[in-house]
Amino acid sequence: MDQLNLIKILPKAELHLHIEGSFEPELMFEIAQRNKVSTRFKSVEEVREAYNFHNLQSFLDIYYEGANVLLYEQDFYDLTKAYLKKCHEDHVVHTEIFFDPQTHTTRGVSFETVFKGIHLALTDAKNEWGISSHLIMCFLRHLSEEDAFATLKESLPFKKHIIAVGLDSSELGHPPSKFERVFKAARAEGFLTVAHAGEEGPVPYILEALDLLKVSRIDHGVRSLENDQLIERLVKEKMPLTVCPLSNIKLCVFKNLTDHNLKKMLQRGVKVTINSDDPAYFGGYMNENFIQTAKALNLSSEEIKQLAINSFEASFLDPETKQSWIKKIQGL
Ligand code: ADE
Ligand code: ZN
Repeated sequence: MDQLNLIKILPKAELHLHIEGSFEPELMFEIAQRNKVSTRFKSVEEVREAYNFHNLQSFLDIYYEGANVLLYEQDFYDLTKAYLKKCHEDHVVHTEIFFDPQTHTTRGVSFETVFKGIHLALTDAKNEWGISSHLIMCFLRHLSEEDAFATLKESLPFKKHIIAVGLDSSELGHPPSKFERVFKAARAEGFLTVAHAGEEGPVPYILEALDLLKVSRIDHGVRSLENDQLIERLVKEKMPLTVCPLSNIKLCVFKNLTDHNLKKMLQRGVKVTINSDDPAYFGGYMNENFIQTAKALNLSSEEIKQLAINSFEASFLDPETKQSWIKKIQGL
């Protein structure tokens, strides 16, 4: 089987996807119109032309602006259902979705509205397409510790449906240590933890995520390769990295996909996974990330399968379900 077909039929788990980052301009326009919200863009083409980023912050500014049109439960349902349809098409059989409650609650949209719309779409996708999922609630790291505590409190009525807390938004200047206490409180409530670290931020941020936030996975973590000791630790602790290749190119973390360090980390034995991050903004969902990365880095079929196996091993699925997907992949 050629690699393109292998990627297409391979069962995959996605572990790093911001639901607000799957907001395609067409849907954004549709929802803006029905909610009678005006945007500074006059057409879908104009929106896409604005997607020229030079770093994380230049992307985040537009990403938060796009999310402004989301007001009602139906909007969050439509957003989530559209992403899950892409999962179905790409043979993503399990997904662990980030959502940013503060992006919405600071605009007066309630936590309940956001949660209910997303949750109903997840339930429908399970019934229609058999896609399993978990939800991860992220704290925006450019906001205060106090705001994060308030968000944690708001989430508690829904906690049985939220598996973990995460940390996203502007990394530089907002180290994981800023959120040590709120992550401790979240763990005491039974949440698992993950955090973006080492996307733009330095190695000490990755160490803080591990040591202070007690994460189960590092989101991005591509700067780990700057430190041999850290790489050895990640291998020894089987600590997964949720790498997002097309995102890294769009946000200028690497100049070209051929420069990406994913293959080097995979060959060092790090449990790396491939993910799409904010696919509506970065030019591709899961299969596109796999296809372009496999081509640019000349990945073998075995390496492609290993990436898919890693995605299940690194997921929050139960051990039996993980094993059954891994067996399917090994049999291909
Ligand atoms: N929020 C959405 N995408 C993000 C990314 N790649 N890094 C940090 N915060 C984000
Ligand atoms: Zn991300």
